[in-house]
Amino acid sequence: MKESPVAHTLQFPDGFHWGAATAAHQIEGNNINSDWWPREHAAGTSIVEPSGDAADSYHRYAEDMRLLKDAGLDTYRFSIEWARIEPEKGFVSRAEIDHYRRMVDTALELGITPMVTLMHFTVPRWFADEGMWRAADATDRFARYVETALPVLGDDVHWVCTINEPNIAAMIAGGEDPANLVAYGLPAPDLAVADTLLDCHHRAQEILSGVGGIRSGWTIATQAFQAEPGCEDVKHAYGYPRDDWYLEMSRGDDWVGVQAYTRTIIGPDGPRQVPDGVETTLTGWEYYPPAMAEGVRSAWELTGGVPVFVTENGIATGDDPRRIDYTEAALAELHAAIADGITVEGYLHWSLLDNYEWASGYRPTFGLIGWDKETFERRPKPSLAWLGEQAKANALTVR
Ligand code: NOJ
Repeated sequence: MKESPVAHTLQFPDGFHWGAATAAHQIEGNNINSDWWPREHAAGTSIVEPSGDAADSYHRYAEDMRLLKDAGLDTYRFSIEWARIEPEKGFVSRAEIDHYRRMVDTALELGITPMVTLMHFTVPRWFADEGMWRAADATDRFARYVETALPVLGDDVHWVCTINEPNIAAMIAGGEDPANLVAYGLPAPDLAVADTLLDCHHRAQEILSGVGGIRSGWTIATQAFQAEPGCEDVKHAYGYPRDDWYLEMSRGDDWVGVQAYTRTIIGPDGPRQVPDGVETTLTGWEYYPPAMAEGVRSAWELTGGVPVFVTENGIATGDDPRRIDYTEAALAELHAAIADGITVEGYLHWSLLDNYEWASGYRPTFGLIGWDKETFERRPKPSLAWLGEQAKANALTVR
């Protein structure tokens, strides 16, 4: 007789953070001074729909954080929007600084640890018009914005992410079709932009190091690049500037964020489409839960032991039980990496809410919480309660 599997629990280290992540442009709504807004409304674009009101989280953030907290999660990663804080070159909006400071206060009052991302893909329209990351004064402009944003952080935000996925941001700056980016197509990144983003990261870290208690890092899209036998060279050519380089450049940081969802197979002709017969998700990516822990292992190795924070991981699906399956499998792999001696600070699920998945619009639903398209009423999914249960136990129950 076949034995039925017995549920067992995997304990996570003391102080491990459990939470969820979002990004301003994807949930706030009406981010009209950002570079994405005109792009979304331009004719002939591959972007399937504009972001519009998104999840209206600009007005509903307190409710969103309360749902996170009530479920049992303790950490919320969100981004602040440069395009709101500096809508016109040199003009700083006090009201928007106050708005984001109120978000931080709300998190702290609820007992949530905030992680604040300073730049999550979107930049002010004027900055894009002036050449974006290719402009001669790009680093200075970014540094000035970071200084401007310091009152949002005060002396009580401890986790700050300077730049989200610079390896993807470098491709956006390269003028790539955003549809490819969202599908993690693999255009050649602009290496000059990559250097500029690294400079921006360092300048931001310098500024932040003057503020007591901040641990700053950035988050890297790791993509579990896997070479077919004999294709290691091809993998090096494709994979290297995209994630390995950024991880190596993170040596000496306080922490490094790992974000991974799926894998990319590298064959003799480069990255390969998802093979037939493989389960795919609403983004068209292979269902591949080990990706995140593979990213964590390579981050640990390439940074020479910088503490890792899983700042995003999740699945776009309309099948919420499948989201739980995916996350359970991913967390089991993460636990094994921790058992091997890798320092992991926490796990943040992408995403707290269904949101605007860039060029793919609203169809790929990554959220632990859905919402009504007309009323914006929040609809927590079973996966939110499930993740909250693991968080409260600081342990994963493997079914
Ligand atoms: C990474 C990005 O940071 C986020 O903006 C995006 O929505 C998710 N991956 C899913 O593609």
